[in-house]
Amino acid sequence: MTAPKTTHAAKTPAAAKDAIALLKADHEAVSQLFAEYEKTRSPINKKALVAEICMALSVHAQIEEEVFYPAVKAALKDKVMVPEAKVEHAGIKDLIAQLKGAEPDGEAYDAKVKVLSEYVKHHVKEEQNEMFPKARKAKLDLVTIITPHNSHADLTVQCLKAGVGVVVEKPMAITTAEVSTMIATASTPMPSMRRMKGMMPRDRRG
Ligand SMILES: [Fe+2]
Ligand SMILES: [Fe+2]
Repeated sequence: MTAPKTTHAAKTPAAAKDAIALLKADHEAVSQLFAEYEKTRSPINKKALVAEICMALSVHAQIEEEVFYPAVKAALKDKVMVPEAKVEHAGIKDLIAQLKGAEPDGEAYDAKVKVLSEYVKHHVKEEQNEMFPKARKAKLDLVTIITPHNSHADLTVQCLKAGVGVVVEKPMAITTAEVSTMIATASTPMPSMRRMKGMMPRDRRG
């Protein structure tokens, strides 16, 4: 009996270019986990895969709801896409809650996983075909990070590297290395500032 592969972390590269690329990488990783579930017959593997899917979806939904959706709502003055996405998240979370306490011992379990995968597929399609292109066009330039403190450093660095300004609710870090990385990244001029600097008369350049 082989344990299912953990693909979520491996398929979410730290070098992803921007927040949207990171969210897309999460979508791809979860889709692969659902594909692995389809292939397995082992109840132990099914349970492990579902635990991984539920964790990945919960973290992803939290980041979208606390960081990405508010930024999209503000940048696009959106009153439709984000509220709909939140309702879809609620449906996904409801199925996750049902699966969390269940044993993979019958048709009902498989049916719940199948419906969850269909909900997620539909939701991802709307994000990637509609919300992400509009967000990219709107050029989000500032996000507020109010996620759990142990995620502040990573999200801050990812946003800064993508050229997006960041307000962190509490600039927390777990290690001093994370603090150094945040300071170093924040000290590097953002791409838009580099472009502005290139346009300035020579005597105004710092
Ligand atoms: Fe979402
Ligand atoms: Fe998403």
